[in-house]
Amino acid sequence: MSATFDFSNKHVFVVGGTSGINLGVAAGFARWGAKVAVASRKQEKVDAAVAYLQSLGADAFGTVFDVRHAEEVEAGFAKVSAFFDAEIDVLISGAAGNFPARVNQMSANAIRSVLEIDLLGTFHVMKASHGYLKKPGASVINISAPQAFLPMSHQAHVCSAKAGVDMVTRTLAIEWGKDGIRVNSIVPGPIEGTEGMDRLAPTAEMKEGVRRSVPLGRQGTVDDIANAAAMLSAPQSSYISGAILPVDGGWSQGGATSIMANLSSMLDKMS
Ligand code: COA
Ligand code: NAP
Repeated sequence: MSATFDFSNKHVFVVGGTSGINLGVAAGFARWGAKVAVASRKQEKVDAAVAYLQSLGADAFGTVFDVRHAEEVEAGFAKVSAFFDAEIDVLISGAAGNFPARVNQMSANAIRSVLEIDLLGTFHVMKASHGYLKKPGASVINISAPQAFLPMSHQAHVCSAKAGVDMVTRTLAIEWGKDGIRVNSIVPGPIEGTEGMDRLAPTAEMKEGVRRSVPLGRQGTVDDIANAAAMLSAPQSSYISGAILPVDGGWSQGGATSIMANLSSMLDKMS
């Protein structure tokens, strides 16, 4: 990744930033000079992520919390604020859960678990963050998914949760505008080498089908999402708020729903 952006002297907190896309985003900001903090549920993942970010030269910190529990999230923000000793310039909120299941295969607890992580978790993170965000100037980014606006088989929980996440984004763009805080969503397409992709397209054949369904002919990389997060957080984007930005090679404009229908029948045969 080339050093295209400059986030030196900036403070970036990535919730759910200990693996996959979100860790890739944290790593991007680390390379661009930011002081970076990450949080997730598992101590070992937090420790490994912090060590990785430090290996990139960043001043990095990690804290453990479950976004489902408001009091844990609030305590986590207090710790991150003490580490930064400054307001948060960039907040990325991307903790999420997913598994493929048809509605008829899903218990109430199954849909509740995803709604609680993705939607209620986003609410907790947004609410806890407000007092710590730079006013004016902070950039807040929620990590959404194409399921937010495209119905997909085996994804009723994620579709409903991420649609809610995007409405939280759009509502806060209104409510926090007066504070000079911008709130946007990034909608990643299929991103290679991630847990999310492995869950929805577990075999090489399924991954190749996904690749072919993307108009630009490739899966995305975590660096594609990091670059989009940096672009949205750069001062040149100071008038962008309330945007729901697909970063998906055109996938959500065509290809996404038809390949998901194919994957669904393959997932049914595998289960
Ligand atoms: N099909 C149907 N139901 C499923 C399921 C599947 N493949 N996987 C889990 N569930 C159900 C469980 O049976 C349980 O319901 P029950 O109590 O009625 O039996 C419910 O979902 C919660 O599962 P549990 O394992 O107790 O939840 P958890 O809170 O420990 O974990 C998950 C949450 C299920 C979302 C878990 O996959 C997770 O932690 N994911 C994070 C990583 C991830 O998903 N990454 C991709 C992001 S896109
Ligand atoms: P991932 O590696 O599983 O990342 C999820 C992160 O969230 C991990 O750091 C995980 O760490 C954390 N997390 C999960 N539940 C949590 C909870 N209850 N509280 C706090 N942290 C929690 O998955 P990914 O595939 O990279 O997905 C990252 C984001 O991108 C998600 O928002 C996902 O919906 C979105 N997305 C992914 C794709 C894709 O192709 N992969 C496409 C579109 C959108 P712990 O396990 O330690 O908690």
